[in-house]
Amino acid sequence: MNDYDPKSTRDADALEPRVPGTGQTRRQFVATVAVGAVGTAGFPRIMSAAEGIVRDKSGAATGDSEMDLTLSINGREHALKVDPRLTLLDALRDKLNLTGSKKGCDHGQCGACTVLVDGRRINACLTLAVMHAGSAITTIEGLANGEELHPVQAAFLEHDGFQCGYCTPGQICSAVALLKENHARTDDEIREWMSGNICRCGAYTNIVAAIREARDKSKTTR
Ligand code: FES
Ligand code: FES
Repeated sequence: MNDYDPKSTRDADALEPRVPGTGQTRRQFVATVAVGAVGTAGFPRIMSAAEGIVRDKSGAATGDSEMDLTLSINGREHALKVDPRLTLLDALRDKLNLTGSKKGCDHGQCGACTVLVDGRRINACLTLAVMHAGSAITTIEGLANGEELHPVQAAFLEHDGFQCGYCTPGQICSAVALLKENHARTDDEIREWMSGNICRCGAYTNIVAAIREARDKSKTTR
């Protein structure tokens, strides 16, 4: 049995990407900055992001506030210029027009923005785009194989696992990771491990049924 505990700060930190040049998670980095206990020598560009200014290693302003960034999304490389404060969600939606990932709360509370980063589900609204250079990012747009829906997408359709559909891309991305994590062994487990994805329409019964079917079908096709 996997002893990962989503409510454990330690385990959550272990899964979070690191802020480049610091070895810290975003949460740890922000906490350190908040108490003023950090120097600027190792990461002047990031520190200056709070001011909206990009500085070189000597601390001098470079004159532009954007950074070059290449993101690998759904198997394609995208070269971008981004403000270092841009979230991954805003990069996807506003820079790349990948609007399948939804913005619900923008505070990590609803799961509408869930995407897969190196196979793990994360809230794209809670992470900076610049933290994901070199990562393999999968959004809802990248799950189907051409015209063929991903089995989880097909199961959501089959079971009407949505009403308005706004939460659905996040639900589906989360469910894809859930099945890989082997956290869908019972309905209770599905409900627990999908609890970060809120459905304001209350389509939970059908969402669980869809995930159950995708799980059972994946067992028979192994
Ligand atoms: Fe990211 Fe709600 S928009 S968790
Ligand atoms: Fe409407 Fe989930 S289907 S919020």
